[in-house]
Amino acid sequence: MSKTNVRHPPHYKENTLLTRREFISSGLQTTGAIAVASAATGILTGCSHQVHAHPTLATASGEITGKASLKAHAAAHELLVGAAVNTRLLRSDANYARILREQYDLVVAENAMKWGPLRPAPDKYFFDEADALVAFAEQNKMKVRGHNLAWHEALPGWFAATVNKENAQRFLTDHIATVAGRYKGKIRSWDVVNEAIQVKDGRPDGLRKSPWLELLGPGYIDIAFRAARQADPGALLTYNDYGVEYDNDEDARKREFILQLLRRMKADNVPLDALGIQSHIRAGSSSSFGKGIQDYIAGTRALGLQVFLTELDVNEDDLPYNDVAQRDHAIAEVYRNYLDTVLPDPAVKSVLTWGVTDRYTWLNGPTQKRKQPNRRQRALPFDDNYQPKEAFFAMRDCFDRRSV
Ligand code: XIL
Repeated sequence: MSKTNVRHPPHYKENTLLTRREFISSGLQTTGAIAVASAATGILTGCSHQVHAHPTLATASGEITGKASLKAHAAAHELLVGAAVNTRLLRSDANYARILREQYDLVVAENAMKWGPLRPAPDKYFFDEADALVAFAEQNKMKVRGHNLAWHEALPGWFAATVNKENAQRFLTDHIATVAGRYKGKIRSWDVVNEAIQVKDGRPDGLRKSPWLELLGPGYIDIAFRAARQADPGALLTYNDYGVEYDNDEDARKREFILQLLRRMKADNVPLDALGIQSHIRAGSSSSFGKGIQDYIAGTRALGLQVFLTELDVNEDDLPYNDVAQRDHAIAEVYRNYLDTVLPDPAVKSVLTWGVTDRYTWLNGPTQKRKQPNRRQRALPFDDNYQPKEAFFAMRDCFDRRSV
């Protein structure tokens, strides 16, 4: 599909392209090669830096494709490895698409399957971007995760004025029937409900005071899961949430509320197959990974559920130094510590990073409150120039160490 024949509704925005201002503040001009891909995609104009025609994955660190790829190492230990995808880049950035094909088994739309992008108007759906992702996955024999069917964010602009207590259930179930129905048989797992727990909202059940809760009460969760099972009986239905990774009181409370929700759903025979642990983790944190998340995963396994690490990346705003090699090392250590803590549990079946290259990480995007606004985040396994970083090798080593 070429760029010109794709229709974008006016509301549809992906925010992860490097702006000229970010490029300049990043200091990347001096590396040269990034200017190539930038010029090729038309992101930057007027840059006169040295141009290398073919940035490649071959590095001093050795082979990383084929048997040396993330997916080969993951498969040897019964894991799928995946990444969140900005669907527009599949058309505009050949290196991005190539890395996906070479390294990953599984893709998930970073935004294209959310309500906002899919629903330009109450009675209209826009499927072009989501369809493009599913087509890319089919062409390359990859699996697809669906993200997501009910969330308090990314709701369309018309939502608040249109959806009310009388029609909310119909909106929710129609949406799920239409979207999950369209991709029936093509989605390995769906994030049916995303981020429903928010301890600080103060409810005894821990539920977030989201639009869905206000409209439908706590029952919206079961309604969504039942509708998803009906629409696509083969998809693994997942509850996905963040803020549960560390051994600290705040994360411990959230884990308790989520486990309580999962137990309640199982007891009520709500169709539920898996727990998603987003895994947006931090370098320079004063907390560590350990028994807290291990018990959380074991508790989930005891309910007969699978576990997916759905949105792994490392926010490095708390690192006190600017040196890139030092930061990359610290970031890789966080990947290592985290994965070595959670991967030994056989309930963990997949690891997805939230993006592929630092070039497009959401952590540099406009939704982030930055502590280091002049420093680009290096959150992902590939750098701004598509080269594998220490984090890439850390992931591969952790897959190898898993005894499953
Ligand atoms: C983020 C995307 O990466 C951004 O492009 C978008 O602007 C906001 O949403 N938890 C989730 C994801 O479940 O959907 C979020 O994705 C990141 C946090």
